[in-house]
Amino acid sequence: MKEVEELTAAEAAEELKNIAAEMAKSDIAYYQNDAPYLSDAAYDELKLRNSRIEARFPELIRSDSPSKKVGAPIRPDFGKVRHRFPMLSLGDIFSIEELDDFIMSVKRFLNTSEDIAFMAEPKIDGLSFSARYEKGRFVQGATRGDGTTGEDITENLKTIRGLPQQLNGNVPEILEIRGEVYMSKADFFALNQKYEAEGKKAFANPRNAAAGSLRQLDANITAERNLSIFAYTWGEVSERVWDSQADFFEHLKIWGFPVNPNNKLCHTVKEIEDSFIRLGEIRSSLPYDIDGMVYKVNSIALQERLGFLTRTPRWAIAHKFPAEQAVTKINDIRIQVGRTGALTPVADLEPINVGGVIVSHATLHNEDEIKRKDIRIGDSVIIQRAGDVIPQVVEVIKDKRPEDSREFEFPHTCPQCGAHAIREEDEAVRRCTGGLTCPAQAIERIIHFVSREAFDIEGLGRKIVEEFYKEGIVTSPVDIFSLERRNNDGDLFAHQNNAPLHLEMREGWGKKSVDNLFKAINAKRRIDLPRFIYSLGIRQVGTATARLIAKNYGSFNRFMDDMINKETLKLVEIDGIGGAMAKDIVEFFAEDHNLKTINGLLQEISVEDFVDETDYSSPIAGKTVVFTGTLEKMTRSEAKAKALSLGAKVSGSVSKNTDYVIIGADAGSKASKAKELGIKTLSEEEFLELIK
Ligand code: IVH
Repeated sequence: MKEVEELTAAEAAEELKNIAAEMAKSDIAYYQNDAPYLSDAAYDELKLRNSRIEARFPELIRSDSPSKKVGAPIRPDFGKVRHRFPMLSLGDIFSIEELDDFIMSVKRFLNTSEDIAFMAEPKIDGLSFSARYEKGRFVQGATRGDGTTGEDITENLKTIRGLPQQLNGNVPEILEIRGEVYMSKADFFALNQKYEAEGKKAFANPRNAAAGSLRQLDANITAERNLSIFAYTWGEVSERVWDSQADFFEHLKIWGFPVNPNNKLCHTVKEIEDSFIRLGEIRSSLPYDIDGMVYKVNSIALQERLGFLTRTPRWAIAHKFPAEQAVTKINDIRIQVGRTGALTPVADLEPINVGGVIVSHATLHNEDEIKRKDIRIGDSVIIQRAGDVIPQVVEVIKDKRPEDSREFEFPHTCPQCGAHAIREEDEAVRRCTGGLTCPAQAIERIIHFVSREAFDIEGLGRKIVEEFYKEGIVTSPVDIFSLERRNNDGDLFAHQNNAPLHLEMREGWGKKSVDNLFKAINAKRRIDLPRFIYSLGIRQVGTATARLIAKNYGSFNRFMDDMINKETLKLVEIDGIGGAMAKDIVEFFAEDHNLKTINGLLQEISVEDFVDETDYSSPIAGKTVVFTGTLEKMTRSEAKAKALSLGAKVSGSVSKNTDYVIIGADAGSKASKAKELGIKTLSEEEFLELIK
C-alpha cells in the first residue's frame, strides 16, 4: 500500500470510496449478522487511514465518510422535528388471556375465523427514533417526543455505528425508518463501572443510559457511548414496496439496517404463545434489555383495514413481561448519608437472583415508606427490579413474619457523625445537620466536586477520595489543589503514627501514577464559571441552574457579593430560579465553612468569567424570529442556532411581537398569519443576506 503522502488526488478519492464501502459492509456484518469479519484493530486501522487521507485531501471528504460517524459539531440547542406521520404508541396486555382476547378482537373486526399471521418481535427497552432518508441518504433523525413533534437528533444518530448513512439496493426516494436506540447490558455495566470508579453518578438502567447518551447537545458525547439500534417500522415513504411486516424486514436487511434476529413470523395462536414463553426463557441471556413482546398483524392490507384507535393501532399490541420479582429476607436496615445530608434507609437482603442479577440490597426511600409498608428487620419481602438496577421492596409477606422481627427505629442523629438529623416540615427526608464535619457528607461533597460535570479530575474516583479522606490527606476540595505542594514538602503524615508520607510510597502507586494525578489536578486550575458554581454542591443547583446563574452574574465575585448580602430577590428575578432554590443558595453562602472553602479555592484556582458569545451587534440582535417551511441551505436547528448566536429570540409561533418570519418551501399557516399581521417576511436567501 502506498504512503498517504504519495497518493495522487484520484487515488485518494478512489481509496476513500473503498474505505467507506468496506467499513459500511463491516458494520452490517457486525450489527446485523452478528458475524464480524474485521477485527477491531483492522477496523480502527481503516478508520485511521481514512482520516489521514482526509487530512491531506479535505476537499475529498465524502458525505458518507466513516469519520463522520464519530464526532460532530456542538449544537447549542435541539431543534424540533414535526413527524409527518405521528409516532404512535401501543396498547398493553399482561397475560395470555388478554392475548387471546386481542387475537379474537382482530378476527372479529376482520370478520374471519381463519388464523391470521402475526409477526412476534421482542420489545426492546430503549427509546424510539425516526431516521429520514432521501434518495437513500440519511438526512434527518428525530426522537419520538410527544408523538407529533420530536427533537432533532440528526448529528447524534450519525455517531451510531449501526445506523446506515447510505442505504443499499433499491430504496424509495423518501423513506423514514423507525426503531429503537438501546445500550447493551455489557456497555451499560462498563459505562457505570467507569463512572463509579470516577466517583460519578451511575445510570439507573440501560434505557436511561441510552436516553442520556442520545439526547446530548454535544454529539461528541453520544459518539463516546456505545449505542445500538434495531429497526422495526416506518413513517413516511414515497412508495411502499413491501406488503407485509416480514417482507419489510427483508428490505430493512438489504438496505443495511440491524433487524432483531428473534423476530418470528407466527401462523397460529399456539406459535405466538410459544414465542412469548421462549423469549421469557432467553430474556436474561440476551445482550440487551427487553420488556415484553410486540405482535403485529403481518399483512399490510389487513393492517390498513384494521386501522387505528385514537393513539394506538388496532393491528398491534405490546405484551409486557411481569416485573421481575423474588422473595427474600431483610437481614438488616442501615442508613446511608448523602452529599446534602439526606439519610436514606437501605435494606441488606439475603442475596437472591432476580431475573439473572444477584440482588443484595434494596432502597427503602425514607422513614414514611418503612412505616407505610410496615417493613421490619427479619421480614420476608417481595422485591422487584423493574428495569432499574436499584431494587425495591414491593411488600412484606406478613404470614411469614418471624417472632423475633424487629421494627427499625429511624435515627434522629446521623449514624456517621452523631450530629442531629432533623426533618423539616413538608419534607420527606431527614437530614444530618453536621455539614462538612460529617465525614459522609464531606466525602460525598468531594466526590461531587471532582465529578465529570464539575472539576472533572481524572484519577480521583470514589475509592481514592474515600481513602484520602480517611487518611486525612484530602478532607476538603481545597486540599486537592495543595496536595502536590504538601507532597513535595513532606507535609503529608500518616494518620496512625504521624510518620511522614509520600504518595509515591502508597501501595500500588509509583512516581508515574502520582505525576499523572498532579497533572490531572493542575490541568483544572482554570475553570469556567458554570462548572465552578455547580462544583460547590449547593442543594438543588444542578448544571442547568449553575449555567443560568453564570449567565446572569457573569463573574463569580459579583455572584458571591450578592449572596453574602443575601440578595434573594435578585436570584428569584432570574427566569428559572424559584423561591425555594434561592433560599438554599443564600443559605449555602451563610455557612462559614462554605465561605472558607470557596476562599481557599480561589487562592488555588482561577474562575473564568462567563463569556457570552452572542453577537449583539448583528441586525437581528434582540429581534424575535420565526422559521417556517423547509429550509434548503441549512437544517432548522442550524438556522435556529445561528439566530440565537446572533442575539435573536427564536419563537415557534407568529404573533404581533414577531419581527421576522423566515419562510422556506411549503410553508403553511405561519406564513399567511405573518402577512395578516403585517410582519416582515424573508426568504431563506434574504435571511442569509441580512445576517451575512
Ligand atoms: S412498533 C405503531 N415494535 O415500544 C407501532 N415498538 O409501546 C409503533 N418498541 O414507542 C411501535 N420494540 O419505543 C414497535 N419491535 C417493536 C418495538 C417497539 C420496542 C417500543 C417503541 C414504542 C413503544 C410502544
